[in-house]
This record gives sequence, C-alpha cells and structure tokens, in this order.
Amino acid sequence: MRRLLVTGGAGFIGSNFVRMMLSEHPDCFIVNLDKLTYAGNLENLAGPVRSETPEGTSNGAGFLDNPNHKFIKGDICDGALIEKIVEQYRIDTIINFAAESHVDRSISEPKIFIETNVTGTLTLLEVARDKKLERFIQISTDEVYGALGPQGKFTEETPLSPNSPYSASKAAADQLVAAFGHTWGVKYNITRCSNNYGPYQFPEKLIPLMTNNALDDKELPVYGDGLYVRDWLYVYDHCTAIWQVLQKAPPGEIYNIGGCNEKTNLEVIYLILKRLGKPKSLIKYVTDRPGHDRRYAIDASKIISGLNWRPSVSFEEGIEKTIDWYVQNQKWLANVVSGEYQKYYESMYGNR
Ligand SMILES: NC(=O)c1ccc[n+]([C@@H]2O[C@H](COP(=O)([O-])OP(=O)(O)OC[C@H]3O[C@@H](n4cnc5c(N)ncnc54)[C@H](O)[C@@H]3O)[C@@H](O)[C@H]2O)c1
Repeated sequence: MRRLLVTGGAGFIGSNFVRMMLSEHPDCFIVNLDKLTYAGNLENLAGPVRSETPEGTSNGAGFLDNPNHKFIKGDICDGALIEKIVEQYRIDTIINFAAESHVDRSISEPKIFIETNVTGTLTLLEVARDKKLERFIQISTDEVYGALGPQGKFTEETPLSPNSPYSASKAAADQLVAAFGHTWGVKYNITRCSNNYGPYQFPEKLIPLMTNNALDDKELPVYGDGLYVRDWLYVYDHCTAIWQVLQKAPPGEIYNIGGCNEKTNLEVIYLILKRLGKPKSLIKYVTDRPGHDRRYAIDASKIISGLNWRPSVSFEEGIEKTIDWYVQNQKWLANVVSGEYQKYYESMYGNR
C-alpha cells in the first residue's frame, strides 16, 4: 500500500486528486495536510468526485470519513508537524500541491507566496531528505517558464523565466527540489501543468468567476483586450497524469502536463455565455493586470510518450461538464462567495 502525504488537498486540484485516488486507487492511504487558507475548502471533499460519480461514502460526509483518508489542518512550514505525520503514518511519498496560487494576490501581497511556496517546500524537502522518503513530487506550473510569443511551446528544457511573484516563488521551489536531489539524493519529480479547469475551483479564477457572475447577471470583468492565450487542462486529466508520474516516473524527471487546448480568455468566456444563454453585453473590459503574460502553451510529448498518459476529455466536452457542474452546485458556489464554507471545518471537526 502506498502511503501518501498530500499537501493542499482541500484546494482545487488537491481535492480533485484526493477524490480520484480514494475512488479509483483504494490501495493508497492519504494524509491530507491543509492549512485551510481562504482557498482551502473541506466542502470540496464532501461531494462526488465528478458529477457523474456517486458519493465517496454513504453517511453524507463524503471523502472526509473514508478510512483511507486522514485530514489534518496544518501548515507546510511547520517542520515538526510534518516530521510527526511522516513518522506516525509511515509516509513514503509527499505530493506537494499546497501553495498560494493566485497571480493577482501575489501582486498585491507577495510575501505570503515566498513563505508558503518557497519556505513551505523547503520544509517538506528537509523532512523528505531526513526520513529518506521514496519520492517527493512537486506540483509546479507552466508559469515558471515565463511568456511565449505567438509561436512555440514550453518544453521541459525551456529555461525558467518567471514574471510574477507567484511564478517566481514556484520557480524558486522547483530549483530547491532539484537542488535537494542533486545535493542529498532526494528522489523527486516535478510536474508543470497548464491552466486547470473543472469542479471545485475557487471563483476568483477565470472559469468559475465568469460562470458565477453570468449566473447572477453580473458584469464579467475581462482584463485588457481579452486575447491572452492559455492552454486548458481538465483537472481530472491533470490528476491522472500525476498518478502516472507516481507509478512510473524515474526519479529526477520533470514533466510538462497540458491539454493541447489553447484558447483566448474571450473564447472561453463566449463559450460560458453561450452555454448559460447569457448575452455578450455582460462583458466589461477592465484595466489589465500589470506584467500580464501574453501566451502559455505546453509541449506535453514527454509525458505522453514516456508515461503513456493522455488527456481523456476534449476542451469542448470538459468546459460543458464544468459549466454544468457549477450550475448544479450553486450552493457550493454561494457558500464560497459568502465565506460560509469556512465554517465547515468547525462543523466537521469542532466536536472531535
Ligand atoms: N489551478 C491551476 O490552474 C494551476 C496550474 C498550474 C499549477 N498549479 C499548481 O497546483 C497546485 C494546486 O493549485 P490549486 O489551483 O489547487 O490551488 P488552490 O489555491 O485552490 O489550493 C491551494 C491549497 O493549499 C492550501 N495551502 C495554502 N497554503 C498552505 C500552507 N502554508 N500549508 C498547508 N496548506 C496550504 C490552501 O488551503 C488550499 O487548500 C499549486 O501548487 C499551484 O501552483 C495550479
């Protein structure tokens, strides 16, 4: 049985990963360590993994009460806690999803990005090194490569050239991971994925934000000319890629993960409006983000040929499923927007 420490498993991608693992790989035990910042939401672990699959358990608590899952509220910067968890639960692998992840927030408040994304990763690495863990998997981002012009794609050999405090902190973490491999022989992999979309994404990011606003007939704020290009990856496909890395990747390898779905922000927004039957007049162009990267695109051929991974859904299918999920889960959306979700931890754990 694999014994995983998943950090940030109450966030968007981490919770989708925990759901997939508990649903499809019952031979794994997961300790899920999350600080429950504004982006961490235990309600993400209460419902079904994908809209078409059933609840994780029958008592309504979803995946939180699964015997193969232990949730712990805590900070990845707390070395003593990490060490205790690794010893107590005989952890063999750390998968580090925990991060401050929103570029706009990194522009207004960069310091917390250095604390969590850099110091937190360093803290986890020190434990991985001292406890001689089998593997350390760092979930990184294509944003570490900087921006592209109209042509070309990022490969794993593209030099790191981050442009925002967020991507600079993620690049620093990637370099630390590689340095721990080089200096102390820590067995690691780094995955760098493109923009994820799917259920349970905090509605500050493009797709849930625009969907939520459109549902409420509110303006859709679009940065600049709306022609920024991102490569979109359905979150479940990102999770299956990480599973392939966990099972098959040789140590020290870095993998780009992308969906081969380049779209401008406006193209994505038009699709949302069409699906919801809302008018384009809701779009409002607003002042651009400073230093906004124009285009990202991923060359994922290494993971496709090396680990036999493929995305399972097309963008057209994935975006429809995603919009429909937010329409069907408006209570989840309303709880996040109102801040109500932050009470969920107390209701689940207050009396335990
Ligand atoms: N969302 C994307 O499109 C995307 C794309 C590329 C890479 N990534 C990377 O994937 C990872 C997950 O992204 P996400 O979108 O799920 O982020 P998210 O913001 O939704 O979730 C982050 C989670 O980490 C937790 N966390 C934050 N600081 C912590 C700390 N100090 N200790 C413990 N937990 C802490 C939060 O509570 C939250 O649950 C991040 O490392 C991010 O850089 C995300």
